[in-house]
Amino acid sequence: MKKKKSVKKKVVKKATAKQKVSKKKNVKKPVKKKAVKKATAKKNSELKLKKDVNEDEMPQPPMAEEDTKEITIKRGKFKEGFIKTAVPGLDELFEKGIPKEKTVLLEGSPGTGKTILCLQMAYNFCLQGKKVLYMSFEESEESLRSHMTDFGWNPQGMETKGLFKIKRFSSIDVARSVEALLSEAKRELLISAEPIIFPKDFDPEIVLIDSLSSIASAFSGEDFRFRVFMEQLFRFLEEKKVSTFLIKETSYPTHIGSAYADHDDTGGAISFLADGIICLYNVVYSSGIRSNAIEILKIRGANFKKLLVKFEITKKGIIIYPNQKLSKGYKLS
Ligand SMILES: Nc1ncnc2c1ncn2[C@@H]1O[C@H](COP(=O)(O)OP(=O)(O)OP(=O)(O)O)[C@@H](O)[C@H]1O
Ligand SMILES: [Mg+2]
Repeated sequence: MKKKKSVKKKVVKKATAKQKVSKKKNVKKPVKKKAVKKATAKKNSELKLKKDVNEDEMPQPPMAEEDTKEITIKRGKFKEGFIKTAVPGLDELFEKGIPKEKTVLLEGSPGTGKTILCLQMAYNFCLQGKKVLYMSFEESEESLRSHMTDFGWNPQGMETKGLFKIKRFSSIDVARSVEALLSEAKRELLISAEPIIFPKDFDPEIVLIDSLSSIASAFSGEDFRFRVFMEQLFRFLEEKKVSTFLIKETSYPTHIGSAYADHDDTGGAISFLADGIICLYNVVYSSGIRSNAIEILKIRGANFKKLLVKFEITKKGIIIYPNQKLSKGYKLS
């Protein structure tokens, strides 16, 4: 019996020693648990992100690592009275969206992507079932259609559905007709008349004009006539309750370190007349690398992110990174 007891004692001793060893091993256990927890949280957040994107059915820009931590994708539909551009990342710059039936200026120097952004928005609005008119004073209808096709959009399909009209106008013709009307009628009468350029057979909800600068150049030296035309245009758009995007070419970033009205080749008044201003920039880093940036400068009656952020022109169109600030050492043009 005694022998058996000692065997038991030995077994107990052995077990205690084993426990001690395993306790020592367990010192690292909480760290392992933490790592597992972190990995699970990361997986969950990734899943949530994917789920949100699917639910929203909105293409989202690929985010840099630091962005994914903070990203909050707005869910649900935008509020009544606001429009959704569906350009990846752009709507995230606005708290509620772009207010409807307003005039928004899209400013930028040559090659900053103004036309592409407008074509992309135009196509997205059509996808939402809206009637869209693209008025070009620069590129031909064919060339614009071909840009859209290159990005994988189908302008002809939307035109067939009666949702899209893309029309080229001559700014010289516009200037001439304003001149002819001015010689016959008083300024007030002319302003209350319909702008001759609007097609009669198409009643759009959204109008994009490319570009104001081209129209202005046809009025060169005739500031008064240009102002009359602009007043007529703004009044007409307001009465028709149309949401308008007006492209304005700038020779350099007019809003960096200078007042709106300074150096404005289309008349400073346009910036004040517009309800919103979105600026596109070419970015050059001291290393020589080029990039693109965008910022919302003003939107009357709505809140927006006051931040200069990066964007890219990809094969599928423009992608804006609403949380990516520019790295240091850059110049805007
Ligand atoms: N298919 C494409 N894929 C990628 N980038 C493109 C494509 N087409 C154009 N781009 C880029 O977009 C830029 C021009 O964009 P866009 O024509 O919209 O500029 P813009 O601001 O309207 O210029 P402008 O003031 O001269 O009319 C080009 O410089 C080019 O870098
Ligand atoms: Mg252009």
